[in-house]
Order: sequence, then structure tokens, then C-alpha cells
Amino acid sequence: MSNDIFEKCNKFTVARDIQALGVYPYFKRVESAQGPVVLIEGKKRIVACSNNYLGLADHPKVIEGSVAAAKKYGTSCTGSRFLNGTNDLHEKVERKFAKFVGKESSILFTTGHHSNLGAISSLVGKNDVVITDKLDHASIIDGCRLSLGEMLRFRHNDMADLERQLAKCKDKAALIVVDGIFSMEGDIANLPEISKLAKKYGARVFVDEAHSLGVLGKNGKGTGEHFNLEPEVDVLMATASKSMASIGGFIASSEEVINYIKHTARPLIFTASLPPACVGAIDVALDILQDEPERRAKLWANTKKMKEGFHSMGFDTRESESPIIPITVGEDMIAFKMCSMLFDECVFTSPVVSPAVPEGQAIIRTSYMATHTDEHLEFILDKFEKVSKELGIISGGTTRKSSKTMLNKKRKFSFSDTDFAAATKKWLKRLWFTK
Ligand SMILES: Cc1ncc(COP(=O)(O)O)c(C=O)c1O
Repeated sequence: MSNDIFEKCNKFTVARDIQALGVYPYFKRVESAQGPVVLIEGKKRIVACSNNYLGLADHPKVIEGSVAAAKKYGTSCTGSRFLNGTNDLHEKVERKFAKFVGKESSILFTTGHHSNLGAISSLVGKNDVVITDKLDHASIIDGCRLSLGEMLRFRHNDMADLERQLAKCKDKAALIVVDGIFSMEGDIANLPEISKLAKKYGARVFVDEAHSLGVLGKNGKGTGEHFNLEPEVDVLMATASKSMASIGGFIASSEEVINYIKHTARPLIFTASLPPACVGAIDVALDILQDEPERRAKLWANTKKMKEGFHSMGFDTRESESPIIPITVGEDMIAFKMCSMLFDECVFTSPVVSPAVPEGQAIIRTSYMATHTDEHLEFILDKFEKVSKELGIISGGTTRKSSKTMLNKKRKFSFSDTDFAAATKKWLKRLWFTK
């Protein structure tokens, strides 16, 4: 056995193997701004996998806000929020965000990932428990790994299982952490039941609104507003990298909780603060998000159109209740192949394979934005139909009869190298750290 730390790197061939097959879907090189259409490899592609829900990432006013902030404050804060890296713009957007979501205070981290790492590890101390949904985002899992407390997990959106976990630790302080909209499945956390159980067991509720802020609720405030349960969300996290068209992560809560996180969260204290250009973009995006509700309305109209379109082709969109619409295609390799064929047809999507989803239920994760036109959407649907017929995945044209995709048994594409499939799984499993 070698004791060279690089041994594993030399043996890591799976990504190259997928590339050699011509179906590698990762690290695509985008050569334009992120809109509903992007330029990749010199060709225009319709995007069906972005989190730019309100279409603000190339909005002229957001860009202006970003440029103006860079001009005024320079390109970097060159230090941590804790020391020299806080400016008045950081504090302005923190106040604006807290006011918007109806919390006393908020703190802005450098990324959404950092905000989950920081808030969870700071709140969940040595004798405490954090309880997460099995489909929570990887950054939540990473926050739990960084905390010194115990971690328990419940089956996805299964309230009986959540109660079982709460009962196991009823003498300890507990934090329940869920995604508002789940990032792969597109379904919504059962906040009404979660908050009832939290009250019953004296636990606190933390909701990651990465995909729900700007999307859910009449005013786009997220899951709490959607269920009319805003005060039941004790800690609200939102990333600025999706509807807010920038980067950064907010944690909003009571004055005391934010003050505690501010002074104890290592991922806040030991990294440089968000650059002015990014904060300037958030500042403007937060205004547009509130002033232009018609964007949210269009996003939901687009979502409805796409769901109906996929259902009419016979596809299963799982439990999706949001602009994230997963399309079940079956085996992992089919998902890779299908994404690559869609890409060749100028539709940009992402495959999600096991262990991120159950074995044999790989999906194409599609997501939509307010700035998709009917033409874009019809193009995406046409190409899905074309490619899935070519692959023999669906027989096509039938109306949805069951909750399962009508996957054709005689698919035309198959992949039989099980060693390769196992290596892919091992790699992704390590990455996802889900099961
Ligand atoms: C649910 C969820 N939480 C947190 C994050 C991390 O946010 P960011 O990418 O802004 O760091 C993501 C990003 O994809 C996410 O989907």
C-alpha cells in the first residue's frame, strides 16, 4: 500500500472516463452573461438549469449597482467582516434584508454555503442536537459536520420520522434545519407540521430559503410567507446567488441570535467579506425583487407551462411544487447521455444521479426563470421530446396516467460497464455525502 497522499488522485479516472464517453456534463464554459440564453462553445443555448429565477443576473440596473459600488469602495474589502472588511454598504443591505423578511436583524456572509456553515456550527454547541431532512443541501450537512453537536436526520419531508428524531433528544436543545424548496426535487418543506413539532418538543426551526426567496409567497419572502407562518421560522437563511443575482448569504433572526452568530461563526470571522461589487448588486436586486412582483407571476406562469408540457409527454416530475422541475429518466448513464444530447440540441440542463437521488431514479434537473419567453420554453419541450424519443425513454404523446414516468423498457441506449458505473457512484457519493 502506498503512503503517498496523491495516490488517490493518480487513481481518479472516472471524470476522464465520462469525458471519453462524450457525455461529461460538468464545468461547461459559459462565454456570456447568465440569461435565459447563454453562449457555450460559440453557440447559443437555452438555459434550463439556472437558479436565476427572477432573471436579474444580467439586469442593467443590477449591473449598474455593482459597477457603482466597485467604483466607490474598490474591488475588495481585503479582510474579514470581523476586522477591517465591513463597510456601510454591507450594513445597509443587512438592514434592508432583515426588514424585507420581517426579522430584527441579519448578517451577510461571503457565500450561501458559508452562511449555513457559520450559523449552524455556531448555534449547535457540544451538547446540542441538529436535525436535518435527508435531502437538505450539502452546505447544511457541512454546517452540521463543523458543529460540535449531535446530528440526526429524518426521511425526506416525513413528519413521523421527524417526530421520532425529536423524541430521541427531547432533553437536549435542538435545531431543525430544512430547505424551504428542496434544491433537486423542487418540493416544499412541510413547515406547518415542522413548526407544530418544534413547539411540542421545544426545538427551533431554521429554514434555508436559497431557492424560495423571491419565489415563494405573495411578496417573495419565502416559505414562511407561503404558509403564512413567518414568525415560526426562527432562523431564515437565504443565498444571494439565485434570485438576488449576486453571491453572498444572509442569516436573519432576532437581534440576540445574530449578535451571537456574528461573534462566534468561524466561516464569517475567518474569511474575507463580500466584495463591494457583489453587495451593490444585492442592494439593487432586493429593490427589484420587491418592486416588480410581475416577475414572480411570470416565473410561476412559466413553471405551470413547463409542468403541463412535461406531463403531457408522459414524464414524472416527482413532487415538484416550484420552478425546479426534476424530470425522471431512470439510470444514471441515461441522465448523462440525455443531457449531452440536449446540449447538442442547444438546451443546457444538469443531470442528477445517485446517491443524490435514489438508484434508478436519475433526473434531469430543470429550472425556470421569469425571463424565459414562450418561445424558449417551447424550444426546451420540443428538444426534450425529440431526444427522449431518440433514446427510447418515452413512447411519447401519451397523457400522464400515473406518478411514474412511462419509461420505455426497450431503451435504445444502454451502458453495461458496471465497474465504471460503480466508480461514478463512489465519486459522487463522496461528493454528496448523503447516504
Ligand atoms: C439549498 C441551498 N442552500 C445553500 C446553497 C449555497 O449557496 P451558495 O451557492 O450561494 O453558496 C445552495 C446552493 O446551491 C443551495 O441550493
